[in-house]
Amino acid sequence: MSRLRAAITGVGHYAPPKVLTNQDLERMVDTSDEWIRTRTGILERRIADESTATSDMAVEAALRALENAHARAEDLDFVIVATATPDMPYPATAALVQARIGATKAGACDVTCGCSGFIYALNMGAQFIAAGAYRKVLVVGADTLSKVTDFTDRNTCVLFGDGAGAVVLEAAAEGYGILSFSLRSDGSGSHLLYLKAGGSRCPATAETVARREHFTVMAGSEVFRFAVRVVAEATQAVLVEAGVGVDDVALFIPHQANLRIIEAASKRLNISMERVFVNLDRYGNTSCGSIPMALSEAVVAGRLKDGDLLVMCGFGAGLSWGATVMRWSPTRVSASPEQAPAEAVGEPVVN
Ligand code: ACO
Repeated sequence: MSRLRAAITGVGHYAPPKVLTNQDLERMVDTSDEWIRTRTGILERRIADESTATSDMAVEAALRALENAHARAEDLDFVIVATATPDMPYPATAALVQARIGATKAGACDVTCGCSGFIYALNMGAQFIAAGAYRKVLVVGADTLSKVTDFTDRNTCVLFGDGAGAVVLEAAAEGYGILSFSLRSDGSGSHLLYLKAGGSRCPATAETVARREHFTVMAGSEVFRFAVRVVAEATQAVLVEAGVGVDDVALFIPHQANLRIIEAASKRLNISMERVFVNLDRYGNTSCGSIPMALSEAVVAGRLKDGDLLVMCGFGAGLSWGATVMRWSPTRVSASPEQAPAEAVGEPVVN
């Protein structure tokens, strides 16, 4: 019998309603719509209001993914939330989500590795399924980067937005599901993208607030070069491991940070832009939300059909990066290898 694999059986996403356009940013910092559009591809982004935290968006996305998977929260075995902006240092944001959706039987934890978080969490959750230990795992990627963005710093504030995406993982039918993955880290680049204060190294004080050390700091051009390189390398590596070629890829969903990064990496890979999903023009960089939001929109848009080869690739603070290849399937089966044939999930719910 072949190895058990995990498949995504439901997707959902949520973005807060408030839109911040490039024109709005022109009134806030010394920038222009033209600069932002040509350097990043971003036209607008969503911003959570004061009362909305990461878990609020994560819950919305999770409920939509459960509905799409025809799954009940009480049947979940585990909940993972990938985030760089938890509601608070502890408890885990995943615990808050687990309680609010009613996943009463589930364990829950957060995964923190910058914007690569969703790819990490997806493949960690998939291992529970592949091991036969769990049947249903919820993986959420969610961030409210606007809460840690310095809206007086034009180098960063034009890039980021808020949002959440979620998937339900279950055992795949034969030949479907996650075929390969790669999760990588290079902590020697930790100084290129970080948020200095508020942890044990530099606890929050009135001085750290006055020095604006609770906001994201980024060396943009270094991160840019790193991103183009690792997206191409990691994607190539997982394709080789899965035993498939670049021409077999039906849809490529890279982290939605910058259109120029996506175009440069896709060119290196020889993947034409028609096969690349891009929604950063409307959301900006939503960190851990980016890939699952794009996936959910791709499903709604009918960009994935039965048997399509899907590649997703993330990168971010750490420095960290990861990629995964999966054979897309609208079907699901029991996580127990002994059990029953595939049953249809039906049409995706429009999120
Ligand atoms: N408006 C106008 N000018 C600006 C702005 C702005 N918003 N931001 C920077 N500039 C200026 C700079 O000050 C600089 O001016 P100078 O030459 O007088 O010093 C000039 O534009 C060029 O700056 P560069 O940094 O060279 O511009 P670049 O073309 O590299 O684009 C950008 C900058 C968009 C930040 C790019 O480097 C980038 O996207 N980097 C990767 C960022 C990223 O993906 N981060 C996220 C990864 S992890 C995560 O998702 C959290």
